[in-house]
Amino acid sequence: MGKKDLLNFTGLSREDMFAIFDLAAELKQKLKAGIAHPLLARRCLAMIFEKPSLRTRVTFEAGMVQLGGHAVFLGPNEVQLGVRETPADCARSLSRWVDIISVRTFFQETLDEMARYATVPVINALSDESHPCQVLADCLTLIEHRGKLDGLKVTFLGDGNNVAHSWIEAAEKLPISFALACPKGYEPSRDLTDRARKNGARILITQSVEEAISGADVVYTDVWASMGQEREAVERAMVFRDYQVNERLVGMAKKDAMVMHCLPAHRGQEITHEVIESAQSIVFDQAENRLHVQKAIMVWLLQS
Ligand code: CP
Ligand code: NVA
Repeated sequence: MGKKDLLNFTGLSREDMFAIFDLAAELKQKLKAGIAHPLLARRCLAMIFEKPSLRTRVTFEAGMVQLGGHAVFLGPNEVQLGVRETPADCARSLSRWVDIISVRTFFQETLDEMARYATVPVINALSDESHPCQVLADCLTLIEHRGKLDGLKVTFLGDGNNVAHSWIEAAEKLPISFALACPKGYEPSRDLTDRARKNGARILITQSVEEAISGADVVYTDVWASMGQEREAVERAMVFRDYQVNERLVGMAKKDAMVMHCLPAHRGQEITHEVIESAQSIVFDQAENRLHVQKAIMVWLLQS
């Protein structure tokens, strides 16, 4: 069998996703118990970042160290994909030196080209289209808090962006329902939503916050202007103002609803300070689980 990549959830089955959750839970438990787990000893990860990052960079790097391997950070000025050399040439060169590659990029095409030409696994560390590592970590967090995913309603308020897309793909495979409320014109990809629905996903896309949030087990949000959309930030702050996750809106979800945010958060915009600091907020559990899930993804890609 050829090498595997993690570009989105298309190539992952529900069983694969649960295998990653189980492995992540095991690695997390070992880390906390101080039990060494050098499953990727002497392996090397190359991390290409065309955009800023805190969580993704640190968790991949720390994760690789904990697994006995090493990570090489390549920032925007080093590789200059498409400027200094093509993604195809970069992928083929890196494949001769390292065992696995992660890429944070703007264009999905860059990632697809890297994966096509690399002979080692490629991981999507966020693209304009999706953020699979984030949503896998989020699902692990929900499993920890609720024991299982079955029947959970995840409501996303805000932009139909990369993180929302990964939730739509997750709803195609996992036993959750997904609702997204956004202003007109900011809906997630129609093709992706149609495909997920055709494959049985329960997905609601609406402009009505009330409709989306009713019965929600999870209230999720993300920045209104993603990386690369900074010039639209002022306009978006106006357009999205009724979608702010505040105490009033959270009060419309289930009483024990959990509040989630992939971070970084803009307090006072998509979420209030009070809500992110409230007892219902599990945002730092999500952030922690990026570490454990990405370690599991790397082991799963390299060893199965
Ligand atoms: N959530 C997330 O991916 O954070 P960073 O952009 O800091 O990596
Ligand atoms: N949608 C955000 C997610 C950041 C982790 C962005 O792309 O900037």
